[in-house]
Amino acid sequence: MNRENTEIDSLAIRNAILQAKETAYSNSQNGPDLPKLDKIDWPLNCTVGPGLEGAIACETEIGYVNGSKGQLVYRGYDIFDLCAYSTYEEVCYLLLHGKLPSEKEFASFRKKLNSYLFIPDTIRLMVGFPVEQWSTMSALRLGVNFMRQKQTYRDDAASAARTDNLASDEDSFAMENPPKGAEHAVYEFFGRLFGKPSSVKEDLTSSEEVDSCYRLIAGVATMTAVISRLNSGSLPIEPDSSLSHAANLLYMTTGKKPTPLEEKIMDICLILHADHGMNASTFAAMVVASTLSDLYFSVGAGVSALNGPLHGGANEQVMITLKKIGSPKKVPQWFENMCKEKRKIPGFGHRVYKTYDPRARILGPMTSLLAAQKPAMKDLYLTAQALEKIVVSTYGETKRIFPNVDFYSGLVYSSLGIGQKMFTPLFAVSRVAGWTARILEYMKHNRIFRPRALYTGPRDLVYTPMEQRQTSKQLTAA
Ligand code: ACO
Repeated sequence: MNRENTEIDSLAIRNAILQAKETAYSNSQNGPDLPKLDKIDWPLNCTVGPGLEGAIACETEIGYVNGSKGQLVYRGYDIFDLCAYSTYEEVCYLLLHGKLPSEKEFASFRKKLNSYLFIPDTIRLMVGFPVEQWSTMSALRLGVNFMRQKQTYRDDAASAARTDNLASDEDSFAMENPPKGAEHAVYEFFGRLFGKPSSVKEDLTSSEEVDSCYRLIAGVATMTAVISRLNSGSLPIEPDSSLSHAANLLYMTTGKKPTPLEEKIMDICLILHADHGMNASTFAAMVVASTLSDLYFSVGAGVSALNGPLHGGANEQVMITLKKIGSPKKVPQWFENMCKEKRKIPGFGHRVYKTYDPRARILGPMTSLLAAQKPAMKDLYLTAQALEKIVVSTYGETKRIFPNVDFYSGLVYSSLGIGQKMFTPLFAVSRVAGWTARILEYMKHNRIFRPRALYTGPRDLVYTPMEQRQTSKQLTAA
């Protein structure tokens, strides 16, 4: 691809995003904005529903979602502008540090991220497991734990003082008789561990912990690509330091260097999924961090929460649905049947957005750009467009149901050569930025999360010994 084409692609992408922004904010039904809040007096009065719906657990300057306006903001910057002008690496810096980086800050941040993409020790452990038999999220959960073992001192605080284990490589057990060259072996052995640096404070906001955030953002990307490779029976591919985060992710996953269009659209997907309020996985990660556990355990909790179909994974369902429908002309009949059976359409509706999800507004045109270059995706894209039209015209006004981020993301990932099983891990690759940024912020004024439950059970039962207990059958007969 020549330079001219590349420039046309990036211009087409930017224009499409800015056009989507204009459409979004010119909508006359847009709702009110959040009042400007300077100081919050705790405790707050708010209406709380089951599952903590409506509860306010903390203050944040990281991200803001206006569900009636269809607006998503990271650190004051609108998501449309970030997708049009920024990169995922810059957005990570913004989320973690609260400001856009200077040129120097960005260069040093990128250099670190790039070097942290290399996680050979962790990959070596991963390759030893039958990952191809596991769900990809389960493998990612394990991978994060391996990273913790290899990249932190936390389970090995006493290691620096230990001199009894002599070994020539890290797989050996202590030897009864020190071999020749023992001193060198000791040095090599301990040199590979991350001993707890004396500067580390016992809190989760020290510079070493910020460094762990960088390691997690980079490492989860590599680990996800490794899982994708192992899952499809291929060997992992080393990152290429000359590539961007998005390009590396695609390269390590598919084995092919992406075109500039593919790279930019992957980058946009990463930006779009980086943060989204107090969603279930962010909350899970923050709850774990609030116990003064560590960042790796917290990110592991985020991965675990994301695994559930009510959170990650709806985009897989969208792909299955579009393939099942088969073609745009079959959409009306299929939709009529779904309505008759009162079934939900995957990729539509959102707990917070009661208008178009801005992420869907951006991903729709991206799918169109990719479909124009990938004939195999064209029919699926046209089917998606027909479905969007009929759902919005039927339910948009009446039930406030519009496409959500998952409606087009699966189509984008498939066009980029990523398999369905990798969609949810890919969500984690991006969201690790939001998880870690929110943990760092919360840790500045940490208070362990501890809501209450309303007890509605009995209180005065008399204990009966086991042999005197009646089975439910006996009770019914009596
Ligand atoms: N298709 C058809 N009808 C829908 C849909 C849909 N996708 N979503 C909601 N509705 C209807 C419901 O049937 C209900 O109608 P009723 O009032 O006549 O009973 C009404 O809209 C309200 O539905 P709720 O489920 O109460 O809305 P809620 O805001 O709690 O649900 C949710 C949001 C869970 C996302 C829901 O819209 C849904 O299940 N969508 C499909 C799955 C999906 O796409 N999930 C991804 C969400 S985005 C993300 O997690 C990253």
